[in-house]
Amino acid sequence: MEFSLTNQLIQHFDGDCAVMFAVDQTSDNSAIKALIEINHFDAESGSILTLNSVSGFKAQRVMVLGLGDAPVTEKNYVKALNTLSVNLASAKVKNAMIAQVDIDGCDQPWMHRTTARVIKNAVYKIKKVGVDMSADKDNVIENIAIQSGSDNAHELAQGQAIANGMALTRHLGDLPSNVCTPTYLAKTAQDLAQEFDLECEVLEESDMSALGMGSLLSVSKGSIEPPKLISLSYCGNGDAKPIVLVGKGVTFDSGGISLKPGAGMDEMKYDMCGAASVLGTMRAIAEMRLKVNLTIVVPTVENMPAHNASKPGDVVTSMSGQTIEILNTDAEGRLILCDALTYVEKFNPEVVVDIATLTGAVIVALGKHHCGVMANDQNLADDLITAGKTALDTAWQLPLDDEYDELLKSNFADMANIGGREAGTVTAACFLARYAKDYRWAHLDIAGTAWVSGAKKGATGRPVPLLTQYILDRAK
Ligand code: BES
Ligand code: MN
Ligand code: ZN
Repeated sequence: MEFSLTNQLIQHFDGDCAVMFAVDQTSDNSAIKALIEINHFDAESGSILTLNSVSGFKAQRVMVLGLGDAPVTEKNYVKALNTLSVNLASAKVKNAMIAQVDIDGCDQPWMHRTTARVIKNAVYKIKKVGVDMSADKDNVIENIAIQSGSDNAHELAQGQAIANGMALTRHLGDLPSNVCTPTYLAKTAQDLAQEFDLECEVLEESDMSALGMGSLLSVSKGSIEPPKLISLSYCGNGDAKPIVLVGKGVTFDSGGISLKPGAGMDEMKYDMCGAASVLGTMRAIAEMRLKVNLTIVVPTVENMPAHNASKPGDVVTSMSGQTIEILNTDAEGRLILCDALTYVEKFNPEVVVDIATLTGAVIVALGKHHCGVMANDQNLADDLITAGKTALDTAWQLPLDDEYDELLKSNFADMANIGGREAGTVTAACFLARYAKDYRWAHLDIAGTAWVSGAKKGATGRPVPLLTQYILDRAK
């Protein structure tokens, strides 16, 4: 699928489909205006009117997209693009042109980047294990021309790079845990390093043991799958300090000895979506060749019950030297992240952001709309929230006061790995904060946003748009 810019009149476009929006400019066209009325098209956001052989149009077909009430919002524009993508695909359209539309407060670069990203992501198809998808090639849209006064296609390429990153994130998330193991994630990182000329290092169990990562290793020891600690670095800005992203990579979370209930347990294959999102973000940034330095770190393990698994009450020593009483083996994400957060000090980071499907409690607090953000630096939290708004991949802040941290008290170690029933998302973040004292740090809890359940079960690719926007905002 390719995107291009054109300054042609939409009536003159002679491809399969001309796409217009039901706003002012559409009503300038009397044929379209009449057809909108005859068809009682209400132009609500997300609605679409498909017309064939409209007089005055060279394209065989015209699709008119509703944008809801004026002034048009970014959300409604994206909703219209999603409707459009579904309809272009089902009508087997090969070439389309999209008329220009003005949205208050949105510049052309944003329009171009967002349009390419949203459409490309919307036509993403899940790759089934063992199925060759190349036969599907005839069903894809080949070219989308976007009407614009500018001929700078730079942001179209950026939008596609972000969608490519999201596609990697979604694919890894959807893969079953018998395919997507820690070893598979390490291989994926090494492949990315090859393709984009990145620096990659994979630590094995023995390396981690030598570094004293007793907390991380306590999670993987009940599994036959060897743990890995992956780092991948992109250098686009000389010797500037890197932005470091840390992604939770639990390739399956059974809960361990604190075994989870059976219903819906298959979805715990998605417990590596933090890892998938930092790999996807790296892919996007490397493809964009941004002038930034970015390092991603992925602690990856499988959490299983076994005779040699951690047991409730066990005490382990983390790489930082702090000891942890494991009261619940299902609170494993923080146990692998804390050692990764100590490890990243070696990169001398500008900021560290960890991304994790960390708590079911964040779904209770925020549902599946916003991800949770917590930080030890308010400017960093604000920057992430702003990036989320720009990219329509939003985050909502939760507090991190000392009163919550006190809930982690243990009689037998420096801290317990759970804080009790209340404020589970916040106490999880307080735990991590104890390992992130030496740099500006933020934590994104993506347990509610990384995938959807039910009939449309699948990974979403979030928060790749938020993270890439945050980095775009910081590139030289
Ligand atoms: N991976 C889960 C969090 C999770 C649960 C994500 C449901 C998405 C949906 C995490 O490892 C976990 O099990 N957290 C526990 C923490 C508790 C034991 C303090 C939880 O949320 O129940
Ligand atoms: Mn768990
Ligand atoms: Zn987990």
